[in-house]
Amino acid sequence: MSEPKKLYIKTYGCQMNVYDSERMAEALGGKGYVETKSPDDADMILLNTCHIREKAAEKVYSELGRFKGLKAEKPDLKIGVAGCVAQAEGQEIMRRQPLVDLVVGPQSYHRLPEMEAKTRTGEKALDTEFPEEDKFEKLKSRPKAKRGPTAFLTVQEGCDKFCAFCVVPYTRGAEVSRPADRIIREANELVERGVREITLLGQNVNAYHGAGPKGDMTLAQLIWELDKVDGLERIRFTTSHPNDMMDDLIEAHGTCSKLMPYLHLPVQAGSDKILKRMNRSHTAESYLKLIERIRAARPDIVMSGDFIVGFPEETEEDFQATLDLVEQVKYGYAYSFKYSTRPGTPAAERPQVDPAEADDRLQRLQAMITRHQREIQDSMVGREVSVLFEKAGRFDDQMVGKSEYLHAVHVTGSGAEIGDIARVKIVSSGANSLAGEVIR
Ligand code: SAH
Ligand code: SF4
Ligand code: F3S
Repeated sequence: MSEPKKLYIKTYGCQMNVYDSERMAEALGGKGYVETKSPDDADMILLNTCHIREKAAEKVYSELGRFKGLKAEKPDLKIGVAGCVAQAEGQEIMRRQPLVDLVVGPQSYHRLPEMEAKTRTGEKALDTEFPEEDKFEKLKSRPKAKRGPTAFLTVQEGCDKFCAFCVVPYTRGAEVSRPADRIIREANELVERGVREITLLGQNVNAYHGAGPKGDMTLAQLIWELDKVDGLERIRFTTSHPNDMMDDLIEAHGTCSKLMPYLHLPVQAGSDKILKRMNRSHTAESYLKLIERIRAARPDIVMSGDFIVGFPEETEEDFQATLDLVEQVKYGYAYSFKYSTRPGTPAAERPQVDPAEADDRLQRLQAMITRHQREIQDSMVGREVSVLFEKAGRFDDQMVGKSEYLHAVHVTGSGAEIGDIARVKIVSSGANSLAGEVIR
């Protein structure tokens, strides 16, 4: 029997790309590919790319350049670009980097096996269409192999919000929700393979409105269906938009015990002027009111968010409003970015903020976020949390897992195994993680 062909996938960007990379590996698995951890022994290299900021997109070209020598040594090596850069730049990628054999957009992954076959005849393959057929059904495979205790599951894709800075509506297309029965079937399959925690994914996951047995379902209704899946212990979802935070979802945070007390709810900025120009269609006040309601339903919930600083026409006063909002919310985690001009988006044409000023604002915001993050993590000391163990730690007999609040927790000498969930008393808080002892 001949050696199986080897596939090397490198994933950039958001969790949806992580999920997609698994699906692509499974699709090519059907053509005899097995995954390898090194590009050096690969027969096919796939970069699953992100277009969200300029740096992310440029990284792809420098990475591709590094494969030049490899391709010279191994003419049969095929190089492909998938993901949001593929969607946004299409043919341009092959023009800029002739060693690329294949370009596939996120809506065409089910066509990857035939595209791979085309490259084997020496032709180039390009597909960046938004086909009508159901990508997820076509990608469906039923691997039986065991896997780690946590998994992502895409339930909704695309976005109709058109925030003025963002490429996602262009790279992922219009918002589409998957039917509930298929999601539940996939969740059951994941649980059979050892998964105990599922994170439901969508660019606007709380806008979920997939078909159910009695008409369209909300995300909360879907969560309640997943709550019934035996062996599934934890449910998370990301990313949510403040405008789609429905009452039943807020309520579920208080009543569904499998739904973890952590919510990623990006606000982007604290100034109403900037929010309006970002086309966010919520205000700082409506966002703060919403958080009040969420905390009323689940007082210990840990909030997380995203911020952009230096958006066109942001003044120091506008930036102060962002700091004020952050001071009020106190995020357990938050991701902040300097505005990056994305060609083709409305904000790209507007007067830009001085980059040095934007850098300075980013540093000030990140200092505040880090302080809060640390305070919240430190406040866990002395508390009992539940930990799902995900891997062995660096030291003998040490295990690492995540608490319900998504803090990394180290435990030594517990005898716990990967996939176990245990009650843990937190004894100390380090730079990026907590340490605790299993309660017997
Ligand atoms: N769908 C999610 C997030 C999409 S992208 C949502 O609506 O919140 C993830 C984050 O990248 C965004 O929340 C935003 O903070 C950031 N981002 C998006 N476009 C950006 C740009 N042009 N420059 C800098 N950051 C950006
Ligand atoms: Fe981008 Fe806005 Fe859609 Fe989020 S809601 S994906 S930031 S356009
Ligand atoms: Fe990036 Fe596309 Fe995700 S642009 S953040 S990989 S949706």
